[in-house]
Amino acid sequence: MKKKITLPNGCSIIIKHANRGDVDGVWKNFNTVVDEGIYLPIFEKVCDIEKESWYEDIKLGRELCVVAQIPNVKPPDNIAGQCEITDPEWDAAAHHVGILGIIIREDFRGLGLGEILIDYAIRESKKLKNKTKIILSCFSTNKIALSLYKKLGFEKIGIRKKQFYMNEQFYDEVLMEIFIEDYLKDKEKNH
Ligand SMILES: CC(C)(COP(=O)(O)OP(=O)(O)OC[C@H]1O[C@@H](n2cnc3c(N)ncnc32)[C@H](O)[C@@H]1OP(=O)(O)O)[C@@H](O)C(=O)NCCC(=O)NCCS
Repeated sequence: MKKKITLPNGCSIIIKHANRGDVDGVWKNFNTVVDEGIYLPIFEKVCDIEKESWYEDIKLGRELCVVAQIPNVKPPDNIAGQCEITDPEWDAAAHHVGILGIIIREDFRGLGLGEILIDYAIRESKKLKNKTKIILSCFSTNKIALSLYKKLGFEKIGIRKKQFYMNEQFYDEVLMEIFIEDYLKDKEKNH
């Protein structure tokens, strides 16, 4: 189901599941955040073959990617942000767990879009009926992301100290999780 919203800057946005036409925009945003070099523990940009296999996995329907699309702007510049919930790799006994990843394009940050996309992704994940718990990890230096996750009710369950080494410094990794039912109950209570 698509959802139309108006951001505080007056920009209209469509929130929806990603389709093939959104793939280049999603990965352009991802590669731009890789270039920013402070939010993700990744050095290499994603190439075309990886983009294709990622989309095939999404299409299978176990995983999801929701996007904030800017109408009347041509791809790949029409994706303001994206939120994915994907399967853990290798872990067959943890298929009830989804890993959340979120990216908002720099010019759309601080407008409430991160919160809207995560909420939408969790609700859509519930409809897929295959995940009960959502987990994520984040650099301890990413105060904005941590504040967003806390606001949404994610619980900090641990820290992996000096887990990443980038830009000649170590980063601690914060691990967080939330149960979908708890999230939805909490939202209902506070509505
Ligand atoms: C982290 C990120 C997803 C947040 O999305 P966003 O759309 O900018 O955040 P929102 O506008 O929805 O803000 C929601 C909450 O986040 C926190 N937040 C947002 N901007 C903030 C800022 N500049 N300073 C402190 N907290 C901030 C607040 O808790 C805010 O709630 P509030 O508005 O009620 O105070 C986005 O900044 C981003 O994509 N950053 C780069 C990539 C990244 O870090 N991804 C996550 C990797 S773990």
